[in-house]
Amino acid sequence: MRSLLSVPANRPAFFEKGATSSVDALFLDLEDSVFADQKIAARQTAGDAIGAVNWHGKRLLVRVNAMDTEWGFRDLVELGGTYPQLDGFMVPKICSLDELRFVEQTLDALDRERPKERPLELHILIETAIGLARVEQIVEGAKRLISVTFGAGDFAMSLGLYGRARSAGSSEYVVLTGERGEENRQAHWNDSHHFAMARIANACHAFGVIPVDGPFADFNDRLGADVSNRRARSLGYQAKWAIHPALIDGINTTFLPTAEDVTWALRVSQALQEARSAGTGSAQLDGRLIEAATMKTVDRILMLAGRS
Ligand code: GLV
Ligand code: MG
Repeated sequence: MRSLLSVPANRPAFFEKGATSSVDALFLDLEDSVFADQKIAARQTAGDAIGAVNWHGKRLLVRVNAMDTEWGFRDLVELGGTYPQLDGFMVPKICSLDELRFVEQTLDALDRERPKERPLELHILIETAIGLARVEQIVEGAKRLISVTFGAGDFAMSLGLYGRARSAGSSEYVVLTGERGEENRQAHWNDSHHFAMARIANACHAFGVIPVDGPFADFNDRLGADVSNRRARSLGYQAKWAIHPALIDGINTTFLPTAEDVTWALRVSQALQEARSAGTGSAQLDGRLIEAATMKTVDRILMLAGRS
């Protein structure tokens, strides 16, 4: 799973488009895409569509409302208990391990009504200050968690920020070069999401869960989206949301090794095999040492590229 497309649950006109896109997973959103007075109707629309639309084998999730709202629990029970075609849920604003365990136990109960080989998948968002403060505890204590998404929009609000742009770069979060009185002092931009993103990625890798980066909001800014994809990958993220189908291909490409990565991996593999035949544990390639640790990178590249 590299890409996840968010589709408002009350906009059936978009369902077919998502289902035939190149995305790996899509989720019908009952949370922030739907106004409060439409929540119940949207749940019904989502349910009807889960059973009726041809999803073309795509992983199909529903983002339910948060568990502290009047809708969240019913979203889980009414959809999870009724539609075997549904693969699972994305649960927003998880704030504690207790809350996560409550969701997990609800899914355990719903699974009793489902085919054994299709347990409901659980994906969550960490997007509040309290959720981030407890992320290691949450991820370590989880029993059936598959992925954690960082939700930058809600996280910024949780920190009391009200900047217009959701992008992490800001002309205010800078450090100045030089000293008082110097000329040409420059402002170096920092990434205001770095701490949250790195912490979530680390927690996920420590406890065997997939870290997912949330959406890049300005879908007309392709350069910005591309940089956002690569920044997430560089921090260890393995997938990213798209809020528009136009962003899917860029995400899919970013979260797969490039052709050059694969060529390099095959050369390393070959060089190490030769070293092994010659009775040595390491070798040189392009003037660099390669050994067992390099082979782990190679195995990962070839696995992701579907070459092993
Ligand atoms: C996503 O849900 C976000 O809050 O950014
Ligand atoms: Mg959110």
